[in-house]
Amino acid sequence: MRISVIGCGYLGAVHAAAMASLGHEVIGIDVDPGKVATLSAGTAPFFEPGLEDLLRAGIESGRLRFTTDIAEAAGADVHFIAVGTPSQRDGDAADLTYVDAAIAALLPHLAPGQVVAGKSTVPVGTAARLAASVHATGATLVWNPEFLREGWAVKDTLEPDRLVVGVPDGEAGAAAADTLREVFRAAVDAGIPFLVTDYATSELVKVAANAFLATKISFINAMAEIAEVTGADVTQLSDAIGYDGRIGRRYLGSGIGFGGGCLPKDIRAFAARAEELGRAESVSFLREVDAINLRRRDRAVQLVTEALGGAVFDRRITVLGAAFKPHSDDVRDSPALDVAVRLHGLGAQVTVTDPEAIPNARRLHPQLTYIDDRDDALTGAEAVVLVTEWDQYRRELDPVHAGSLVRDRVVVDGRNAWDAAQWRAAGWTYYGMGRP
Ligand code: UDX
Repeated sequence: MRISVIGCGYLGAVHAAAMASLGHEVIGIDVDPGKVATLSAGTAPFFEPGLEDLLRAGIESGRLRFTTDIAEAAGADVHFIAVGTPSQRDGDAADLTYVDAAIAALLPHLAPGQVVAGKSTVPVGTAARLAASVHATGATLVWNPEFLREGWAVKDTLEPDRLVVGVPDGEAGAAAADTLREVFRAAVDAGIPFLVTDYATSELVKVAANAFLATKISFINAMAEIAEVTGADVTQLSDAIGYDGRIGRRYLGSGIGFGGGCLPKDIRAFAARAEELGRAESVSFLREVDAINLRRRDRAVQLVTEALGGAVFDRRITVLGAAFKPHSDDVRDSPALDVAVRLHGLGAQVTVTDPEAIPNARRLHPQLTYIDDRDDALTGAEAVVLVTEWDQYRRELDPVHAGSLVRDRVVVDGRNAWDAAQWRAAGWTYYGMGRP
């Protein structure tokens, strides 16, 4: 099929490359000429495992191209809208400027029978608002939320847990659902659930899923707060409750909490939308989820302060990680970087290292010291703080070796990623989050 993907950021670039890998003919469109040039050269503009291979294969096959010219979308069977929906500058609600602009730019190039498939995460009610303008061209608007995780984006796009398509009532909606079924034929044939819903449900599926995940993380971090005053170990608690099949161990990782370009902004936008709908109380717990999450960053700073005997001023602290999670170079709303910035703000001499995220972190916070090499970064530290659980730190950093580099063997494990006993055995004073 012929496919256009409008917006080539974390979501769109992966989606375009993945669609080409399925055999579709794909044109990726973005307003940023720099991004288009990078992608056209077969280079990923951000770190995402597997993306570059897919880009190169697509470009070499001739099935994948990138352009800044929206007119090249003309003739595509399906137009995916994959632009960002950041928070509004003066509040929590989603800023729909880019979605509205993408649809407006696309309208003159639409033709009857085509499908416009929104992938961006939007407040419930957005598709219904945009439908009339799309339907006036004879094309059909559907909403097809994306659930990909950064770091696993290629796999999540090609083998999602489920596909959801929100369609309008009537024949055009049913036909559009069939068109999307055809686009995702490989996944559908592999037995991946394909759910056809109305617009509102499809929009809610995405925000509800993210709200649930954020709540799960904050739940265990709230338990960590209780563990801290009772002497319990939250990691054992996660294991023990996680064995209950109804609860499950995934997303019960405690520590400095969630960040990134999705969960924080999406739960805030959801709360803002619920308020507009007169149902603020229905999701008021999301404000608490947000507050618990942010408190864990304060707690990490407090632990480092305690670990250093009450003050961090002028002390040498090495922060392992800047990305909001491993396998990503994304530092948007990164709890890891936030902890580093706060320590720096208190006068500490902070050195940050990260396998992938240093360029992005430096752009945002040039005031911090960055060192690429992990061991160089550790050398002479008076305290080490683990904030992004990259394998290079979690699995591959030997406490005995690390101990030979630092000045003082003091470690704060902000992700509860290490075996405390192993670090203690190597002579370290180990502090976890919600662990004795
Ligand atoms: C998330 C959703 O998983 C995805 O379905 C949605 O489409 C976009 O938002 P992503 O932001 O890529 O994806 O990251 P995810 O892997 O979900 O992690 C989010 C944050 O939660 C990270 O900062 C991570 O470190 C943190 N996290 C995750 C925890 O603190 N504990 C956990 O147990 C899991």
